[in-house]
Amino acid sequence: MTASEPVSVVLVGAGNRADVYSRVSLTHPDKLKIVGVVDPDPVRRGIMAERYRVPDEFCFESVGDFISRPKFADAAINGTMDSLHVKTSIPILDAGYDLLLEKPFAVNEGEMNALLDAAARTRRRVVVCHVLRYTDFYRAIRDHVDSGILGDIITIEMCEHVNYHHLAVSYVRGKWRSEALCGAPMLLAKSCHDIDIMLWLLRGDAPLYVSSFGGDYRFGAERKPAGAGTRCLCDCPLEEECIFSSRANYLDAVRWTQYVWKPLEGAGEPTYEDKVRSLMTDNQYGRCVWDFDRGGNVDRQSVMIRFSSGALGTFSMIGGSAKSERNIHIVGTKGELKGTFEDSRYVIRTMSPHTKAGFCERAYDLSVGGDMIGASGGHGGGDEHLVLDFVDYIRGGSPSVSCATLADSMMSHKTVFRAEQARRSNSVLPIDPAKEEIP
Ligand SMILES: NC(=O)c1ccc[n+]([C@@H]2O[C@H](COP(=O)([O-])OP(=O)(O)OC[C@H]3O[C@@H](n4cnc5c(N)ncnc54)[C@H](O)[C@@H]3O)[C@@H](O)[C@H]2O)c1
Repeated sequence: MTASEPVSVVLVGAGNRADVYSRVSLTHPDKLKIVGVVDPDPVRRGIMAERYRVPDEFCFESVGDFISRPKFADAAINGTMDSLHVKTSIPILDAGYDLLLEKPFAVNEGEMNALLDAAARTRRRVVVCHVLRYTDFYRAIRDHVDSGILGDIITIEMCEHVNYHHLAVSYVRGKWRSEALCGAPMLLAKSCHDIDIMLWLLRGDAPLYVSSFGGDYRFGAERKPAGAGTRCLCDCPLEEECIFSSRANYLDAVRWTQYVWKPLEGAGEPTYEDKVRSLMTDNQYGRCVWDFDRGGNVDRQSVMIRFSSGALGTFSMIGGSAKSERNIHIVGTKGELKGTFEDSRYVIRTMSPHTKAGFCERAYDLSVGGDMIGASGGHGGGDEHLVLDFVDYIRGGSPSVSCATLADSMMSHKTVFRAEQARRSNSVLPIDPAKEEIP
């Protein structure tokens, strides 16, 4: 690859996320070119091959088939589901490819260590898709922290509200509903981004101890409303008043199409009647939300972390709110920062004893988009920035401040693993049991 050539990439797991990243090849053909597709699903493979003009000979059913070819690309984008990340990534690294890998990069500590070893052994570059680091909002906050305007950080409070229809589509009816299904509990699947942001903003301050509480407040058979049916469109007398109604959320509103209409992929644009039939028969998104086995997964969870500097971090994932929103409030020895990602706004207040209010406040308003997972421009522009940064890195550039290398992402994953363990055991746990004793 020369500096003037695009980085050539093979898509592994031709699903939603890989597609979002690959679209950069259409907007920036000088930077990225998709030259191969791997997916056992022939429909998905075909859609991606057509969209990115990949010849048949570079379309593969499995990673094994892909790597049996002599190396023909610079890197791979691994957009498989959570529990496949490590299993599919190790052979790709062994075959000599650098990697852009979806989060969570591993679903347990054993897997995490296996991937770290493989990356070290093969000396390949692996970047984890922590897209929030690339948004204007969190980048600007990181710059303020770096500037020292807040002083030393004492506390960092973060909250992610996952609205009720997102909660239902992904974590109740959807493919992340249980650890048994996707390998990841909700904190790891949804909020490893947020814990990563907390650690990234604390710039190397090591997390020492963690505690966590959470559970399932709303779902499960025992909470099913009396008289509710099994499929919203078939047999439920409560459908019209239910906030989780498939009709309201997936037919009347155009939401989460990439998940809900997957069963209809490959047969052209589905009609309204096709969709109704699908929801009435074999589409999981047509089933009553209370009928799913979530295997003990949470719908809300709080995490508290003590850092080596003495700073405290608190994070709450609150599923089921009306509106999705990420809030942050950092308090330092010289000032504080408080903001909301979706509003693209934050304020910085600095201590000022000689003023009437006792502080000076400055408001910042960034014009970035919201945290919607869409086909393009998702995560407030973070998706595209991440891919372009990956391209620079693969071309030999130094990792940017936002770049999450495997080593960089390791501590946030470890913190999430330990938080989940702490929740399940109602305990306070050291992040690294080998090094720390609980005082
Ligand atoms: N960075 C983010 O903000 C963000 C947002 C959403 C999802 N994700 C993560 O992205 C990943 C993908 O999510 P998605 O919604 O795009 O999933 P998806 O189900 O749409 O895509 C996964 C694809 O992998 C294919 N696949 C299955 N087994 C395979 C194998 N052995 N080899 C190759 N391909 C295989 C499937 O057929 C499917 O097409 C998940 O880990 C998810 O947690 C990240």
